[in-house]
Amino acid sequence: MSTLLVTGGAGFIGSNFVRHALANTDHDVVVLDKLTYAGNLASLGGLPPERFRFVRGDIADAELVADLTAALDPATDAIVHFAAESHNDNSLAAPRPFVDTNIVGTFTLIEAARRRDLRFHHISTDEVYGDLELDDPARFTERTAYRPSSPYSSTKAASDLLVAAWVRSYGLRATISGCSNNYGPHQHVEKFIPRQITNLLRGDRPKLYGTGRNVRDWIHVDDHNSAVLAILERGRIGETYLIGANGERSNLDIVETLLELLGRPRDGYDLVGDRPGHDLRYAIDATKLRTETGWTPRYTDLREGLARTVDWYRDHEDWWAPQKAPTEARYSEIGR
Ligand code: NAD
Ligand code: DAU
Repeated sequence: MSTLLVTGGAGFIGSNFVRHALANTDHDVVVLDKLTYAGNLASLGGLPPERFRFVRGDIADAELVADLTAALDPATDAIVHFAAESHNDNSLAAPRPFVDTNIVGTFTLIEAARRRDLRFHHISTDEVYGDLELDDPARFTERTAYRPSSPYSSTKAASDLLVAAWVRSYGLRATISGCSNNYGPHQHVEKFIPRQITNLLRGDRPKLYGTGRNVRDWIHVDDHNSAVLAILERGRIGETYLIGANGERSNLDIVETLLELLGRPRDGYDLVGDRPGHDLRYAIDATKLRTETGWTPRYTDLREGLARTVDWYRDHEDWWAPQKAPTEARYSEIGR
């Protein structure tokens, strides 16, 4: 491959992917991103202009997508599709943009990809499988039935089904990956870990939904992105691969670790109202990915990864400060 068209490359995972791909491969990168509230050009600063180009636009704009894909070579190039409305709380308050971007946007991209026979990789999520009981010995695998809970996860599930159908009916050369919860630099302050870190850095208290017993399976964003590259290079067309790094922790555990890392008392958090339909637990079995591609995660010590993430937010207040007040105002409106 020589050029990757990366949708959503100004967001959290996409911007980390762009840096990772430029540093670890010979590919050039073109980013297509609408710059919604979640996109930030500052996350793409300092990249080499001879290998990187940014295009502002909507993945649901068929004409723009046709222009960009016309410039790609099916023999060497690929589309890596990160763009999405990604936050569950927003999807509960206003679901329409989730349908427009996650479903219609993905449809627009796969139509363009099939017309030009382009390799396509679709970034999805473990949330399409719904949730697990806390004591369930099972974890999600590629064979788990879809059972999404929220407007966000149901629109991601719909987009996965579109991609799978385009593979079968039109021979689209696509793969799908479903990853667990990511953490790391450049994550929007609306999300759990950056919200709590930036609250603490401002002298405020972390906010835990419900009782804090919900479990997420945390993975460092660089490990997600190295897995995406492994799938692009060695994944089998038509297959789904789950990405996870055995990082299950309760939300309360995470908050207590952050309080300790920032030198605050262990009980210095607030319990707030719960998220409607709140998924209880996610957990990934990544055996297929590991066996077929040889991928392994680098960040296996979650506490160490969180400490580095705290340092990043401490050192980059200029990046997150403009987003903090509007984000907290949105949370106040919903009482969380
Ligand atoms: P994000 O919200 O940080 O970034 C999304 C990006 O997409 C932003 O730059 C935004 O401007 C752009 N975008 C939104 N609508 C667009 C449109 N119509 N056209 C073009 N660009 C548009 O999201 P993220 O956390 O980086 O997630 C990226 C992808 O990874 C998503 O597909 C998400 O479902 C998936 N995912 C996320 C996680 C996680 O923990 N964050 C885990 C698994 C999978
Ligand atoms: O599992 C992958 C998914 O992880 C991705 O598909 C989504 O794009 C991503 O946003 C994330 O979804 P979650 O809903 O799990 O992430 P969020 O950061 O919103 O919340 C993580 C957990 O923390 C969840 O149980 C809700 C809880 N929470 C969240 C916030 C913002 C709190 O307890 N307090 C908070 O302030």
